[in-house]
Amino acid sequence: MLDSLRPQVLSILNEKSKSVDTRLGEICELLKSNVPYYDWVGFYFKNGDKHELKLGPYAGAPTDHTIIPFGKGICGQVALSNQNFVVPDVSAQDNYIACSITVKAEIVVPLFVNGENVGQIDIDSNTPDPFSEVDERFLEFINQEVAKIL
Ligand code: SME
Repeated sequence: MLDSLRPQVLSILNEKSKSVDTRLGEICELLKSNVPYYDWVGFYFKNGDKHELKLGPYAGAPTDHTIIPFGKGICGQVALSNQNFVVPDVSAQDNYIACSITVKAEIVVPLFVNGENVGQIDIDSNTPDPFSEVDERFLEFINQEVAKIL
């Protein structure tokens, strides 16, 4: 199912008449509306020279967490670790920032430009333990393609 979305991801990113933020927002909407266990999909990016993340385009409920310091929450940890972070059960995490009480699981995959960790894609799920390596490979693909237009 996920792999069948790859051509649509590429065609959205190729819409050069649209701004980068518009295209990233369309990617978020594509994922949220086509993957039943993707309930919130968003991009965070390093906020200039600051050691914090700033929320970028997203699909799903608005979040209060528009700024996340490096090291805080799942997102802030990925900003430092440069590694995918798959959380099957958010209630088992100490260093976690809750956006909604309905969220059961989360996956965060870093986004690299020329080897530098510049941001991440973050997905929340209301389904317990829904993510597999298929999600990781798919989200890595998306981030690699997004990196080409940043
Ligand atoms: N849960 C994240 C915060 C961002 S929201 O999921 C949109 C975290 O722990 O970093």
